[in-house]
Parts: sequence; structure tokens; C-alpha cells
Amino acid sequence: MDGNGRWAKRRHLPRAMGHQRGVEAVRKLVRSLKDTGVECLTLYAFSSENWKRPGEEVDDLMNLMRKFIKSDLPEFVANDVQLRIIGDWQGLAPDIVEMLEDALEQTSKGSRLLAVALNYGSQQEIVRAAAKAAADGEVTEQAIAAHLDTADLPPLDLLIRTSGEVRLSNFLLWQSAYAEMMFVDTLWPDFTPEHLQRALAEFEGRDRRYGGR
Ligand code: FPP
Repeated sequence: MDGNGRWAKRRHLPRAMGHQRGVEAVRKLVRSLKDTGVECLTLYAFSSENWKRPGEEVDDLMNLMRKFIKSDLPEFVANDVQLRIIGDWQGLAPDIVEMLEDALEQTSKGSRLLAVALNYGSQQEIVRAAAKAAADGEVTEQAIAAHLDTADLPPLDLLIRTSGEVRLSNFLLWQSAYAEMMFVDTLWPDFTPEHLQRALAEFEGRDRRYGGR
């Protein structure tokens, strides 16, 4: 979900406003999931590298997270959304961990998966998974995949990065081995359910060969 800062800068607004509008884009997208065939939407909300940002911005993002969980949890439950978290989320502030545990519990029966990457870094995730596989005595592709944070999620089909940047920034590196990629210029706060529908239509037209022919 890249481009919140630039969205705000173009409007001479504080960065926090960009993140706030980013949350609104998330809300609309989650509401639209029922009109798509998307089984699981995974959002990169906070990376393990985002701690390098100024303390004030990190605080703004954490406060947005608190507000978002509080305000939107009842809607998730009502709309059949099941929350999942990937990343080292136990390393977040204790009150957020508690809120997330409650949200996971309350949404556990939902059929539409919303995975949020929090304190997430893909390289760290792969190292953790490989270490667990080694401890079990078997370092194979299957064993590593089984220990990734995404082990219980469906395979990644489509990865979209907003804001015109063309890199993965430590997101789902293992999982994107055969994922289709889309890099769109739209800044995250401007990314609407219609943008997602268009991306899905383009995805339908892609020829996926998984190395075969
Ligand atoms: C990248 O934009 C965005 C982030 C680091 C945070 C994304 C977080 C949200 C949209 C809100 C929190 C999410 C939830 C689910 C509550 P940037 O700041 O790097 O933008 P820039 O590259 O234009 O400066």
C-alpha cells in the first residue's frame, strides 16, 4: 500500500493524513471483497523496516491501527471476514497484540480471508521457517513453505504494488515465485475497488505456465 506520503505531499497535507486516507481505501476495498472472487486479500501495512521511520510517524501508524481495529471489527464480523496476521506481530505494543488476539478470535468463523502483514519482513520469515524446518530435520521446499506465516493461506496469485515503484520491498518473496505482478501508478489512497476489479480482469487474461509451456 505505497504512496500515502506522496498523496499527502501533493496536497500540502501532513503525512498522517495520507495514512488516514490509506485506511479509508483499505475499508472500501475490504467492503468490496464480497463482489469479487478473491479468496484472500493480503495487505502490507507495516514492514519490519518501517521502524526506521521517525517516531512520530510510527506512532501515527500504530494509532491508526488501534482505531481501525476498534471501529471496523464489528463490520468484519458482520461481513464474514476472517482476519489473519502475518509477520512478527507479537513484537508490537502489548495493547495492540491484545486487540489483535481479540480480533482474530472474533473473526475466526469468517469465510473471506483478510491477511494483514504487520512487522513483516519476508527474508526474516524465510529464515524463521527454514530454522523450524531444520529443527524438524527436513529442509525441503515443502517443509519451509509449511512453516511460513502464510502456511494456512491460499497460494499467492496476484501481487499489486501501488505508487509506481517497481520492487517487492521484502514482501512475500518466497510466495511470489509464480505470482503475477502488477505495478500501478495509482497512489494507495486513490486505489479503489474499481482499480482492483480492473487488475483482476487483467489477471484473468494472463497466461500462467509455472515454468512449463
Ligand atoms: C507506504 O506509504 C505505506 C505505509 C508504510 C503504511 C501503510 C499503512 C496504511 C495504509 C494504514 C494502516 C493500515 C491498516 C490496515 C490499518 P509511504 O508512506 O511509504 O508513501 P510514500 O512512499 O509516498 O512516502
